[in-house]
Amino acid sequence: MIPVLTIDGPSGVGKGTVSNIVANELKWHILDSGAIYRAFALAASKRDLLPENTKELIDLASNLELKFVSSPLKNDLEIYLDNQEVSSDLRTEKTAELASKFAMIGSLRESLLIRQRDFRKPPGLVADGRDMGTVVFKDAPYKVFLTANVEERAKRRLKQLHQKGITGNISHTLEEVRNRDERDSSRKHSPLKPSKEALIIDTSDLTVDEVVTKVMALVKV
Ligand code: C5P
Repeated sequence: MIPVLTIDGPSGVGKGTVSNIVANELKWHILDSGAIYRAFALAASKRDLLPENTKELIDLASNLELKFVSSPLKNDLEIYLDNQEVSSDLRTEKTAELASKFAMIGSLRESLLIRQRDFRKPPGLVADGRDMGTVVFKDAPYKVFLTANVEERAKRRLKQLHQKGITGNISHTLEEVRNRDERDSSRKHSPLKPSKEALIIDTSDLTVDEVVTKVMALVKV
C-alpha cells in the first residue's frame, strides 16, 4: 500500500507551504488538489460554462488537459492547461472564488476523483486540500488538519499574493477568505472538516518550521 499523508484545512492556513517542505523532506510526490479545482474553474470560465451547465462541466472535467511540472528554479509548480502555462492566473482570488463555486457540485467532484487518486505513486504522496483525509484518500495512514484564526490566515494569504505580484488589501482579503471558508464548510458534498483520525494543528502562533516538525513527527513514528 502506497502511503499518503493528507493535509487539509481552510484557505490561507499554509497547507501549500507545509506540504511542499514535507514532500521534499520525505521525497514523496505532491498533490495540490486546489490547483485542480482552480484550473478546472479557469477552463470552465474560458468556455463560458456556468455551475448549472452540469453535463458540459462533467465532460470538461473528464477531458481537461492538465499538466503539473515541478520547477526547481522557481521552487514551485508550473501548471499547464491545454498546453498553456496558467500558474499565475490560477493564484488569483477571483479564480479561487470561482473554484469554490464549482467545487459545490457533487457530480463534478466525483469526476475529478480519479485524476487526484492517480497522484498516489511510490514511494508516497503528500496530498493538500479540503477533503483529502475525509473522501479522496480516506484510507490514508497519516492525516493532518491545519487551522488558524481567520485574521492570521488573511494576513498569510495577502503576503502570498504580494509575493506573486498580485495586489490586494487586508479588509478585502479577510472578507474573501471568510466567504470562501463559509462556502467550503457549509456545502453538501465533501465539506471542509477534519477527518476523525486527523491530527489537528492550530498554526496561529506557530512558525512554518514548528508546523513541519509536528507533521514530520507523525509520519516518522
Ligand atoms: O486550496 P485552494 O485555495 O487552491 O482551493 C481553491 C478552492 O477549491 C477551495 O476554496 C475549495 O472550494 C476548492 N477545493 C475543494 N476541494 C479540494 C481542494 C480545493 O473543494 N480538495
